[in-house]
Amino acid sequence: MSDTLFKVKRLHDLAQAGLLKGKRVLIRSDLNVPQDEAGNITEDTRIRASIPAIEICLQAGAAVMVTSHLGRPTEGQFKPEDSLAPVAHRIAEILNRKVPLISNWVDGGFDLQPGDLVLLENCRVNVGEKKNSEALAKKIAALCDVYVNDAFGTAHRAEATTHGVARFAPIACAGPLMAAELDALSRALANPKRPLIAIVAGSKVSSKLTILKALAEKVDELIVGGGIANTFMLAKGLPIGKSLAEPDLVNEAREIMDLMEKRGAHVPIPEDVVVANELSPLARANRVPSNEVAEDDMILDVGPKTAARLSTMLAHAGTIVWNGPLGVFEIEQFGGGTKMIAAAIAHSPAFSIAGGGDTLAAIAKYGIENQVDYISTGGGAFLEFLEGKTLPAFAVLVERGSE
Ligand code: 3PG
Repeated sequence: MSDTLFKVKRLHDLAQAGLLKGKRVLIRSDLNVPQDEAGNITEDTRIRASIPAIEICLQAGAAVMVTSHLGRPTEGQFKPEDSLAPVAHRIAEILNRKVPLISNWVDGGFDLQPGDLVLLENCRVNVGEKKNSEALAKKIAALCDVYVNDAFGTAHRAEATTHGVARFAPIACAGPLMAAELDALSRALANPKRPLIAIVAGSKVSSKLTILKALAEKVDELIVGGGIANTFMLAKGLPIGKSLAEPDLVNEAREIMDLMEKRGAHVPIPEDVVVANELSPLARANRVPSNEVAEDDMILDVGPKTAARLSTMLAHAGTIVWNGPLGVFEIEQFGGGTKMIAAAIAHSPAFSIAGGGDTLAAIAKYGIENQVDYISTGGGAFLEFLEGKTLPAFAVLVERGSE
């Protein structure tokens, strides 16, 4: 098996060893993609990222089943909008082949030959999926010779298709996407090249408190942005006008800064900010020193001096973990800070990893997709990894990896 930070069986290795030929392989992917009201897929990154696992299995002569959840349907009550049909269609387009969609698949009974590829309908419609029912997991495991978990985006969920089945399938391994995500995250956080800089931004400290605390013990610089930065500014005694903040978490912010100071690490507090008195594309933006924010001002971005200072830090980083834009970048006059740090990350020699919906939108807006070393497909899973939590769907692969 590959020499990495963790021991799991890897799909690629099984294929190379000829262990997939003629076998029934079940791949759990995360094909949970956004759709418009008519059901059209509006963003297909997760589907494209799931293709290599399918190709490895087909090229190795396996009979291939793929399943995923889509949304959060009610178990046992299939509705047309729960269907993976648009996803089957998109995979068929990408691979230029037919991809039949199988409903009611848990008890098997469908034809599958080596070289075939089928998509098994939304696994969250099966009764017992979310509670990780052992009976359901055993039935699913009985469908395959090899189970592949390639669904990093769902690795923080212990469900029948992400966890239970991995316990009972004859062989359980990580797909290439799952392995790449864990390799990149481990490289960034387990044994990082220093200085390690994390950027954590968002509207609320409360929703990212555990991440901030976990990172405070590891990183050299913890760059905060958005409402989180405002709460840290408040903790430093700076005026924040009517900006979004959580005054009741000021003590927590202080504790984080103290903890970091003690080990020679820092939370860089903005020295200047961009303010306006309304959050609107028509708002007039003013740059002010951070000790001169007026009572009716809202802080909507970091100022140019702060952005330049952060960019210099990022230019000298060894590793960068990015989650969250610094300002309201969707509105042009409040996007300067995010744009500057995006450019700094793009040009930094550091190993960089980014994740989270807003961060991916910023990366796309500033066109730096090819200059970030790893962009995670995980939302909740990426955040839980940053929190230092064990991802159950991955942990079970590690358990099975030692067999
Ligand atoms: C996601 O979109 O983050 C994953 O597909 C997980 O979806 P869930 O939060 O519904 O489990």
